[in-house]
Amino acid sequence: MTIQLPQRYADRACVNTIREVFDYIRRYKGKTFVLKIEDTLIDYPLFPLLMKDIVQLHDMGIHLVIVTGTRATIKRHLAKARCHTKVFNGVRITSNSAMAHVKLAAMEVAQTIISHLSTGNANGITGNWIRARTLGVCEGQDYQYTGHVEKIQFDIIHKLLAQNFIPVVYNIGMNATGDFYNLNSDQIARQICLDLTIEKLFFIRAQDAIPTKGVEIPPGSQIHPNGEIFSNMDLGHVNFMLGKNKEHLSFENQALLAHSKEVIDRPKGVNRVHVIDGRKEGRLLQEVFSSIGGGTLIYGNQYAHIRQATLDDIPEILHLLDGYVKKGNLVLRRASDIKKQIHAYYLYAVDHAIYGCGALYELGDGWAEIGAVAVNDTYKSKGIGRGVVQYLIQTARQKELKTLFLLTTQAADWFFEFGFAWASPSKLPESRQKGYDFERNSRVLLLKL
Ligand SMILES: CC(C)(COP(=O)(O)OP(=O)(O)OC[C@H]1O[C@@H](n2cnc3c(N)ncnc32)[C@H](O)[C@@H]1OP(=O)(O)O)[C@@H](O)C(=O)NCCC(=O)NCCS
Repeated sequence: MTIQLPQRYADRACVNTIREVFDYIRRYKGKTFVLKIEDTLIDYPLFPLLMKDIVQLHDMGIHLVIVTGTRATIKRHLAKARCHTKVFNGVRITSNSAMAHVKLAAMEVAQTIISHLSTGNANGITGNWIRARTLGVCEGQDYQYTGHVEKIQFDIIHKLLAQNFIPVVYNIGMNATGDFYNLNSDQIARQICLDLTIEKLFFIRAQDAIPTKGVEIPPGSQIHPNGEIFSNMDLGHVNFMLGKNKEHLSFENQALLAHSKEVIDRPKGVNRVHVIDGRKEGRLLQEVFSSIGGGTLIYGNQYAHIRQATLDDIPEILHLLDGYVKKGNLVLRRASDIKKQIHAYYLYAVDHAIYGCGALYELGDGWAEIGAVAVNDTYKSKGIGRGVVQYLIQTARQKELKTLFLLTTQAADWFFEFGFAWASPSKLPESRQKGYDFERNSRVLLLKL
């Protein structure tokens, strides 16, 4: 029997998406993600679907640690018991009587999560894996049973992950003498990322990702087409936000950005932090399996996206250049040409998706040519081309090259921005003059380093 696939499956875009997903699966198998899930999401109708997506990630071989946010449930339990607590500097003061309700709320949320996991045949497990300490007295305020995380018993978490469990970590910790403390779940997620090797940290919330409203936009950061939230931020942008925009950020977003910075900016730190709105269907899968997520992605720095190409990248490079060759922007390069000079190619890649590329061909005597600069149509005008060219110029400087040049038919104006200036083909090194295609009549631009 033959199966006729619907036409849409033959679409190139669809095939590319499938390839992208395969790449991501290969990349993340065996890696660990930390998911901090806000309890407010539990009441949303699509919450079971979010939990199903989480189970699918687990089934795919991704190790998961879930940290539960409990704020709304604690509030509800305290209100029901008419137990009044004070909030100081955004932190709840936990009295001895309030602590009993905090423990109940924490267990309730953790059990709900575990029950959703078991619906999908995944085994969630909770335990007391956090050593905590009191926040003590600050600015004259005694925080009583509100504490902070001292350390995580990561050896136990490692063992559970190896046995295919999903550790569900709630916001209660104990000191050495067995006293319980009420902890901040974002801090727990942060500490897990500091103590274990974590690929990604997700903050899954019942609100939008990092908003742009009212803030001065950090130059070079990327914003979603709707203009309302940031799509990409590097640590430079995070510093900008925490400096210039601090008063425009909620307490929670300030803390979240500060935690993100801390977990990324260290040797073997977390690769990416994702802030997503868990109320929107499929956001988690979109963030994991596609290069265009629906939330805010925080990463090391812009150049962290740029890497040297390898032979495995050749099909993607050809695919990227192909459209521009047909339009006449770029000269034709065959796989064998790229293979010969693969060390000269640099890619702007987010996870496995290639957004852009550029090449730096060294010609000897301090000369190098910039070529094959191209950005995927979907990601144009986001500073990616600029990032690639700046990186190539910086690399040329590091290599102590003296002169850069390039040939272009349609992008001369764009290259002026980087300091390139007109030159005649006769200024090119002799070897390159020989290969100059007078019929194509490309403009020659030079940059003295
Ligand atoms: C040229 C190219 C690499 C720019 O990449 P990009 O990531 O979109 O560029 P950036 O985001 O850094 O810069 C975008 C700005 O450059 C401008 N720009 C893009 N192409 C331009 C061109 N050919 N001439 C003049 N300006 C251009 C855009 O209008 C935009 O301006 P804005 O910021 O005022 O909106 C990309 O458009 C491309 O792949 N073009 C086809 C291939 C090509 O021509 N390569 C260069 C041949 S050597």
